[in-house]
Amino acid sequence: MPTTCVVGILWGDEGKGKVIDYLASDADFIARYGGGHNAGHTLILPSGKLVLHLIPSGVVHQHTVNVIGNGVVVDPLHLCQEIDKLRERGLAVDLGKNLLVSERAHVILEVHRRQDLWAEHRRGSGKIGTTGRGIGPAYSDRCARIGLRLGDLLRPDALRRGLAGLAEQKNALFHAAELEPLDVELMSRELAAAGERLRPGIVDTGAVLRQARLQGKRILLEGAQGCLLDVEQGTYPFVTSSHASTGGAFSGTGLPPHEMRIVGIAKAYATRVGEGPFPTELKDGTGERLRIAGKEFGSTTGRPRRCGWFDAVAVRYSAAVSGADELVLTNLDVLRGFAPLRIAVAYRLADGTRTTALPAFDLDAVTPEYVELPGFTEDLREVRRFADLPANARAYVQAIEQHAGVAVRTISVGPERQQVILR
Ligand code: IMP
Repeated sequence: MPTTCVVGILWGDEGKGKVIDYLASDADFIARYGGGHNAGHTLILPSGKLVLHLIPSGVVHQHTVNVIGNGVVVDPLHLCQEIDKLRERGLAVDLGKNLLVSERAHVILEVHRRQDLWAEHRRGSGKIGTTGRGIGPAYSDRCARIGLRLGDLLRPDALRRGLAGLAEQKNALFHAAELEPLDVELMSRELAAAGERLRPGIVDTGAVLRQARLQGKRILLEGAQGCLLDVEQGTYPFVTSSHASTGGAFSGTGLPPHEMRIVGIAKAYATRVGEGPFPTELKDGTGERLRIAGKEFGSTTGRPRRCGWFDAVAVRYSAAVSGADELVLTNLDVLRGFAPLRIAVAYRLADGTRTTALPAFDLDAVTPEYVELPGFTEDLREVRRFADLPANARAYVQAIEQHAGVAVRTISVGPERQQVILR
């Protein structure tokens, strides 16, 4: 199967960057299909740590073409900065050659960032805990059909007209909210300059990918965030504003929904950053130990991640929604020394009913039902074969497969490229 989609199974931060980097060595094309620079994909390279926010992880491989698909919302100024940073690290970023950006991708403007922060402030205690990157407002404008697309940056008249239309709508609202009005002239100049820099890379990426698929090229689709942050399938309203699950892979790239291998990425425990329900969250010392052991701090915002036990109910749901044929289980090494290990296998709803399905409402009111397994004390980082894992670590992985109903084909036992077990 020439196309593989890598999708986060819970609330993002599952270690997709490392998995994509690993799979990228075989890929001709790597395409992002949703989200924006709210994502943070961490790669540990021989030259040190590299965090990518918008540019696909294949940029570290010489032979891959990296595509930012039409479903991504792009802050052009951020994109220019990210390109500069990669070049400073000695990586070749060649617009039009190894980096293509969809002309249909919607643009994140400074005004979206301000709106994002303002909306969070207004939500008060009901805040979502967004990354403050303007993601929600940019997608809202796309749906409201007043957004600008990247291709507009190359068409000065269309750009000015689009910005004037946007300003007319926003300034009325901003006036009431006592926010600064939009300066159309300044925005036009900045955006047109960014457009000129990006011009060689702004193309019809859907056509490129469809052609590549017909030619039998290997395409890797890089999901951002995770299924439970999907605007429709996730823990609404505590979600991001894109289709982070596999559904977004088709609409967000322009590839047709033909057969593809779908690889779900799940951590050996659960984490979440930002607000929203998290049934297996550990608010005690064990959660704190997990955070420290797993270095669980957001790669985009630096916020501490909330940590908890593996949730087989949520993973089963997300695997079903995303169509994940297999799981990559990451950070198994981090669980060393935790005993007993727990896996949530069902929930008790507020009225006492037991369920193994993920409820769409009142997820914050469920009580997880756990199975307990003995822990392991051995260091897993040098293990490369499943049979060489300690018996308790093997039993834990098998229990995950049994309760989540999906096969674990790959296990990551450390941040570095070679620290994986293939089964
Ligand atoms: P937004 O995407 O900035 O609007 O944030 C909405 C929610 O998604 C917040 O809870 C964020 O913390 C979360 N979120 C967005 N991007 C990521 C990510 O890459 N990893 C983990 N959480 C994310």
